[in-house]
Amino acid sequence: MNALIGLRDWVDDRLPIVRAWNTHMGEYWTPKNFNFWYFFGVLSLLVLVIQLLTGVWLTMLYVPTAEEAFASVEYIMRDVEYGWLLRYMHSTGASAFFAVVYLHMFRGVLYGSYKKPRELVWVFGMLIYLALMAEGFLGYVLPWGQMSYWGAQVIVSLFGAIPVVGEDIVQWIRGDYLISGVTLNRFFALHVVAVPIILLALVLLHILALHHVGSLNPDGVEIKKHKDESGKPLDGIAFHPYYTVHDIVGVIVFLFVFCFIIFFLPEMGGYFLEHANFEQANSLKTPEHIAPTWYYTPFYAMLRAVTYPLFGVDAKFWGFVVMAGAIAIMFVLPWLDRSAVKSWRYKGWMSKVAIYSLAVSFLVLGYLGSISTTPGRTSVAQVFTVVYFAFFILMPWYSSAEKTKPVPERVTMK
Ligand code: HEM
Repeated sequence: MNALIGLRDWVDDRLPIVRAWNTHMGEYWTPKNFNFWYFFGVLSLLVLVIQLLTGVWLTMLYVPTAEEAFASVEYIMRDVEYGWLLRYMHSTGASAFFAVVYLHMFRGVLYGSYKKPRELVWVFGMLIYLALMAEGFLGYVLPWGQMSYWGAQVIVSLFGAIPVVGEDIVQWIRGDYLISGVTLNRFFALHVVAVPIILLALVLLHILALHHVGSLNPDGVEIKKHKDESGKPLDGIAFHPYYTVHDIVGVIVFLFVFCFIIFFLPEMGGYFLEHANFEQANSLKTPEHIAPTWYYTPFYAMLRAVTYPLFGVDAKFWGFVVMAGAIAIMFVLPWLDRSAVKSWRYKGWMSKVAIYSLAVSFLVLGYLGSISTTPGRTSVAQVFTVVYFAFFILMPWYSSAEKTKPVPERVTMK
């Protein structure tokens, strides 16, 4: 024991590990009233680790060439010991990642976690979300199934809708005149090296920025306003051991659900891994119905909802603009919310209706994006695209116009 303490002190004289531990764990004062919604940050971290570990092992066995990619995945699934588990942990892990991140983001919307002074935490979060979308897309191309190929075809060709330079950009991304082994190879490099590095750096910045200002809570009350004589917030408890132990409960429940899905529903009836992806990529045969995985479908529905050309530019380009706008507008959320209070507990009825409408529009668009279009469905998608944007565009007005409830001085324990 003494030797260990000696070693710690030796390192600490050269690298402040004790101070870092205290700042981020032992003396990181966390509000004592966290609820269910606050599990999803730590669960996002857990899934990130699962993806990195399983990803490294898959990379040892996967072959990133057009000739061998599909067969190498089948080899992992059938011949490698526990290869099926490794692969399903990674592919189900991708869906789990988006599930926990969406819930984590929604928590931010409910409790106004993005508001001053946490704007940067939110912006880093949004950059993480963008990187995650890129990572998911690149990863889905790697098994080189029909949906990998045609999904890549649809997404990459979207850039072709950009006037003048579009076609050149598309060729630059593909590295070829069509989606080919060259494209697969570069997507592999981006998926296993470039984007994970960016993702890790962003997660680090996200947490550093959060720990600098401190965590918010379901009441939207700043706990730093009331401190005892030693400077510790009265409503704060040390992250370690209180929340480390508390979070283990969430982690165990999550792992039960995660294992159940991996063992019994790894493809989730085509929502996590689409049926067409069990057939090898074929550039001469378009699948009957091309749809992205569930976590992109709300945006895909918005892309398809735009059917009118404008200013002589075709509808595909404007669909792309609407889809990109739907993501871009989330970045500025901290500056759209003019409410005097943070948490929806104390906001007025207009904010509550707006939050419900956002959730409903996202779910309806998600469903519409996963099925084929009909004129009726396109009209519904158009309505809900407007509802989605209304949440953001009208926010400066409804968040400042409505009457809010008084916020308690100290956190409440509901
Ligand atoms: C890999 C993905 C992510 C990881 C690992 C991650 C991790 C975390 C962790 C550990 C926390 C502290 C615990 C908590 O409050 O739940 C946190 C807080 C936060 N995250 Fe994330 N996050 C991720 C993505 C995102 C995204 C996509 C957004 C939004 C665009 C976001 C917005 C926030 C906000 C606003 C907070 C502060 C919450 C508060 O203090 O009330 N995060 N994140």
